Amino acid sequence: MAIRNIRELGDDILRKNCREVKEMTPKIQELIDDMYDTMYEAMGVGLAAPQVGILKRIAVIDTDGTPYTMINPRILETAGEQEGSEGCLSVPGKAGMVRRPNYVKAEAYNENMERYEVEAEGLLARAICHELDHLDGKLYVDLVEGDLYDVETGDDDEE
Ligand code: NI
Repeated sequence: MAIRNIRELGDDILRKNCREVKEMTPKIQELIDDMYDTMYEAMGVGLAAPQVGILKRIAVIDTDGTPYTMINPRILETAGEQEGSEGCLSVPGKAGMVRRPNYVKAEAYNENMERYEVEAEGLLARAICHELDHLDGKLYVDLVEGDLYDVETGDDDEE
């Protein structure tokens, strides 16, 4: 168990493509455990491996008390649309309006490298899209409509 340092916007590693995980190893299991610790400590609902400096296709998500370990995840289907405020642990204190599908069906591998599917709506669908984007070097700030705003004060960012 360890809290890892979260990389922030401007760090090149957040813009890189992540590599597939071929097999579970003790080191990867430790990474996943640390990702959960780091996400919960920061009060986030999702965290992707590049955010802790590791270029592997792994994300952890917990929007409602159900944790999802997503290894080599892939979106299979999307439907609908939702507009809402989104933030990221790599962009602390900020949020912005992002349009996402309201429904997502995804596949991923769990910590035993067993394939599973998840169907998600609302916040979980948003989190899956957001975290999977991280694995391709994409950040929500690229998708924001309007300005980022300060979560505490509500003030727009003056770039
Ligand atoms: Ni993020």
